[in-house]
Amino acid sequence: MAGMTLGAYLEAEVSDLDLIDLVDRIASACWKIAQVVRDAALDGNQGQADSVNPQGEVQKPIDLIADDIFRASCAQSAKVSVLVSEEVEEITNLKPGQSGDFIVAYDPLDGSSNLDVNLSVGSIFCVSRLADDLGPLPDGRSLKCAGYAIYGPSTMLVLTFGMQVVGFTLDVTGEDYVLTHPDMRIPAEACEFAINGSRSRHWDARVSTYVEGCITGPAGPRGKAFNMRWTASMIADVHRILTRGGVFLYPVDAENQAQGGKLRLLYEAFPMAMIAEAAGGRASNGQSDLLDIDAEDAHQRTSVILGARHEVDFFDALVTCN
Ligand code: AHG
Ligand code: MN
Ligand code: MN
Repeated sequence: MAGMTLGAYLEAEVSDLDLIDLVDRIASACWKIAQVVRDAALDGNQGQADSVNPQGEVQKPIDLIADDIFRASCAQSAKVSVLVSEEVEEITNLKPGQSGDFIVAYDPLDGSSNLDVNLSVGSIFCVSRLADDLGPLPDGRSLKCAGYAIYGPSTMLVLTFGMQVVGFTLDVTGEDYVLTHPDMRIPAEACEFAINGSRSRHWDARVSTYVEGCITGPAGPRGKAFNMRWTASMIADVHRILTRGGVFLYPVDAENQAQGGKLRLLYEAFPMAMIAEAAGGRASNGQSDLLDIDAEDAHQRTSVILGARHEVDFFDALVTCN
């Protein structure tokens, strides 16, 4: 399969023609966003905008440009009726929703604090279908597709339709996405963890216990050495874990608990959880699988513990017995 174009892969592996069309449009949007990210300094698009997003975070010009691009591409699909974006408070109803139409939830630019320092950022999305008995918010176990684009040294598009995770690399010269990572699996053994350690003063004692176990090394309760990495871009951290293993943690802590955590359920946690599970890993809120959490609000936040299945299980068991 390696070497296939995205179009050929979709035609071979996905039977839903409307979904193929939508993913193709999203892939085009990500390509355009990659160009905007690449040229940000040249085009005067670094720094901050004058606005804040629904979470009260100051937006950057590229957050807004990326949202416009992603939104316009999805809206070209006759089958998309609902959009949920990190950058827009209201759910967008593009047309009267009919059962079977698509809902797309997306973070148009994740890790945007990395923009001005020229480090990896990306876009995250998931797709579900409107059902008569469900509201206009995605249900984690009914997702049809999830993915992210990472704008790093190369631009990649990582996708799952539920059974496996595949990674395409953008070939700018050939003007196509090419399948370079045909079966991305999270290695079973985790030797790296990713957490923002500067928040340790806010952590629950149980999170501190877990991290302490990792950094104590071979003499500690885990009996081995762990390395630590944190990029402040979930996409980059998850992409690394998909490639060489580990676990990502952004727990609820004393400072963010009033909001329910930092990361957003619909357009950050759900897509990454679907990808983690399809890659043989697990994603939890510290108690139950993220995909089993009911979404009650478009911008709902959650704890995220994601990566090697055994490591996520270990964390959850630690939380439960304390
Ligand atoms: P966004 O740029 O879309 O607001 O998301 C940033 C998220 C996530 O990508 C990252 O893991 C986390 O926020 C970083 O948080 P810290 O600033 O606490 O490191
Ligand atoms: Mn984000
Ligand atoms: Mn964002």
